[in-house]
Amino acid sequence: MEDRRALIAGNWKMFKTCSEAVETARQLVEFVPDVNEIDVMIAPAFTSLALVNDIVQGSCISLGAQNVFWEKEGAYTGETSSDMLVSAGCKYVIIGHSERRQYFGETDETVKKRIDAAINGDLIPILCVGEMEKERESGETFSVLDKQIKKGLEDFSYSDLRTLVIAYEPVWAIGTGKTATSDQAQEVHLFLRSLLEKSFGAKFSESVRILYGGSVKPNNISELMAMNDIDGALVGGASLNAEMFSRIIHFKHQ
Ligand code: 13P
Repeated sequence: MEDRRALIAGNWKMFKTCSEAVETARQLVEFVPDVNEIDVMIAPAFTSLALVNDIVQGSCISLGAQNVFWEKEGAYTGETSSDMLVSAGCKYVIIGHSERRQYFGETDETVKKRIDAAINGDLIPILCVGEMEKERESGETFSVLDKQIKKGLEDFSYSDLRTLVIAYEPVWAIGTGKTATSDQAQEVHLFLRSLLEKSFGAKFSESVRILYGGSVKPNNISELMAMNDIDGALVGGASLNAEMFSRIIHFKHQ
């Protein structure tokens, strides 16, 4: 791996009430008191962000949101701006998760607008890409990813994207217990890096962190992290339990 700092991120999706989120965050701070060598982030539901921020502030755990709207403010019932997320303590925002693409009409065009809002709002965007099972089976994995990356990052310059993080999450591996093998993931991560190189140059592509997501657990994290182009993980189910997530964070010491 180049000089890329690993990032282990937990996506809590639509789980945990306020009190449950606070409790898990408290436990996590206790289990992960001082991780210096990697970055750690958790993304609770919007309702718990400010509360969880109170718990993780001053710790090695950063806060992220699961989505952001592209307008700065206005009559957009139900939406949340980047300024609002920053004011709740967020440093990161997950954009274009496959669940948003599948169930909420997210497209590459709306992904692009959200990335723009994140960058302009001082949030680190985590752009999620990934193929569906039928796309993998019909040999379309690379063309699907090519489109998601090119369209999602269209018109940005490499300096706009200097904080960008990409998460490769094969849809067939999310919540299914079917992890991509470390070789399968590495092959795709290398492909993604080559796409970034073509659009933004080698220096940029070598510096971008590419996370793997999809059934990451304490027992498969080390093997994934051993791959050259895997720079971290976006963890769903296993991040909901503080003890399990802390084992993933401590993958180097397992
Ligand atoms: P699981 O770890 O539950 O498979 O979820 C992955 C994911 O979607 C993270 O964003």
